[in-house]
Amino acid sequence: MSQQVTAIVLAAGAGTRMRSRRAKVLHEIAGRPMLGHALDAVRGAGIDHVVAVVGHDREQVEAAVSALDPSATIAVQTEQLGTGDAVRVALDAAESTSETYLVTYADVPLLAADTLRLLIDEHRAERRAVTILSSEPEDPTGYGRILRDASGAVTAIREHKDATEDERATREVNSGILVVDGAFLDRAVRALSTDNAQAELYLTDIVGQAVSEGLPVGAHVLEDVWQTEGVNDRRQLVRLGRELNRRTVDHWLAEGVTIVDPETTWIDSAVTIGRDTTILPGTQLLGASTIGEGVTIGPDTTLRNVEVGDDATIVRTHGQDTVVGPGATVGPFAYLRPGNRIGERAKVGTYVELKNTTLGAGTKVPHLSYIGDAEVGEGTNLGAGAITANYDGVNKHRTTIGSHVKTGCHNVFVAPVTLGDGAHTGAGAVVREDVAPGALAVPASGQRTIEGWVASRRPGTPSAHAADQSTQENSGGQHQEPQ
Ligand code: UD1
Ligand code: CA
Repeated sequence: MSQQVTAIVLAAGAGTRMRSRRAKVLHEIAGRPMLGHALDAVRGAGIDHVVAVVGHDREQVEAAVSALDPSATIAVQTEQLGTGDAVRVALDAAESTSETYLVTYADVPLLAADTLRLLIDEHRAERRAVTILSSEPEDPTGYGRILRDASGAVTAIREHKDATEDERATREVNSGILVVDGAFLDRAVRALSTDNAQAELYLTDIVGQAVSEGLPVGAHVLEDVWQTEGVNDRRQLVRLGRELNRRTVDHWLAEGVTIVDPETTWIDSAVTIGRDTTILPGTQLLGASTIGEGVTIGPDTTLRNVEVGDDATIVRTHGQDTVVGPGATVGPFAYLRPGNRIGERAKVGTYVELKNTTLGAGTKVPHLSYIGDAEVGEGTNLGAGAITANYDGVNKHRTTIGSHVKTGCHNVFVAPVTLGDGAHTGAGAVVREDVAPGALAVPASGQRTIEGWVASRRPGTPSAHAADQSTQENSGGQHQEPQ
């Protein structure tokens, strides 16, 4: 049955009040352009045929439609003569007339697939020519009003600018979302006139037309007003974004995720989270991030397109395009740049930056390190202050470190370089040449100590004084420890 419904998504309007270089319908909430939310709702309702009507910012919007929903048909409305004209353009772009049409807007981002499904089902069950999705907002100013007769039957939609004082007192308004019989729509949009306050071709005039032809018309009043709200400016965008986030947080709470502070937690709509995961305040889970079960994330963590395995812990971290293995620990204060695979139970510690790096199971980079373009085996420990010198100013090179390697503090790995399995390095090593499995690499030049340098070059300083004091005490033998 669903093959016989075509959705017409109107996206040709100007969006001047956004004051933006970007087309209005491409502004995002929950990590997805409003246009994407509208297309998701339509697809989620099981509708196979979609026509998107584009006009203003045509190139941007057309490219976005193709990217978000490659099988959608694009219809170009060259002049914005009104919603009736936009629908006519959509019908002309389609190859044949569909049995039923759903008309919806690209700037109504909270509209749910279930609502569209319900509207289509009701339309069919009641065998109507037109079914309107209506609502009763606090302030109906600006909307088209649903006019009903004494029996409660819908008689027309009257646009605000054309309405009388009495008609304006009506609370019930047109959301703009309609389900219409195909044959009737095709006929009705071609008969519209511009004889109205805005000299536009109003799609809403088809309602009065159907009634005058004696065709059945009805309106479904949606309690959830948020779903019918459109976005015209950034205030509305942010307000709806906050509400969508509240709904997303609520969904994950119901699914068994503890979200300690919903107010400061932001979760994009494509993110998935497993049970018994705890999200601490100030956390943003963005893009296509997938979070396992029993994970702890936050506080103050941003993850974009990060896959987190079960029971991992991520504290005060900024991460992107990275896979974190089960039971791994990250942070506090870690920076995960794209392309990392952090193994099971591995540790990326404090003030560690990782890029394009694979860490094997149980490998640790605990403190103050930059590891980029590296492959590290299992059970290896990189001492504090490990740095891969991966960039020679022209090219990036890889560092390969085996399993069960132990590197001393403050090492530099000058790539390309390889440390074999079980290799060790001393503190301060600058590893320029490969280290064989099981070998120890230590800095080649020994330490040069110049006795009495402070007394001769820095006389009278606190350092000189302290050194002098210490020498006297030691020679006096006062601090000899008993065996
Ligand atoms: C429209 C409805 C009104 C309803 C309101 C809900 C009409 C005549 N009026 O009014 O009853 O209460 O929506 O928000 O339909 N668009 C095009 N091409 C055009 C004109 C509009 O694609 O030529 C698109 C816009 O991009 C937008 C949608 O249609 O997504 C609605 O257009 P808009 O001008 O906002 O209609 P309203 O005057 O708000
Ligand atoms: Ca509008």
